[in-house]
Amino acid sequence: MFKRLAEAERQAVDAPVRITVDGLDVACRAGDSVAAALFASGRDACRDTVVNEVPRGPYCMMGVCYDCLVTIDGRPNRQACMTQVEQGMNVERQHGAREVR
Ligand code: FES
Repeated sequence: MFKRLAEAERQAVDAPVRITVDGLDVACRAGDSVAAALFASGRDACRDTVVNEVPRGPYCMMGVCYDCLVTIDGRPNRQACMTQVEQGMNVERQHGAREVR
């Protein structure tokens, strides 16, 4: 559904930042948001709703809708659209309700 523009794809290939998403290696462009990296790697869902477990994915890409929540480096409920990728980051899809800590 989503794909990078040619220049952005070249930048991702030339200077990749490597992250893992659900245990799989994903090459990203420096400065990408986690949500952009998820889209560019072919993923359109990053969590399931708490009530009926319907898949949800980034929608507004500006920090308003909270449909992009993921677990990053073990911390749940991080907004993928508001978080820049970092080398070695571990991103996991969220399933159901999170524990209150
Ligand atoms: S996509 Fe809406 S808050 Fe992240």
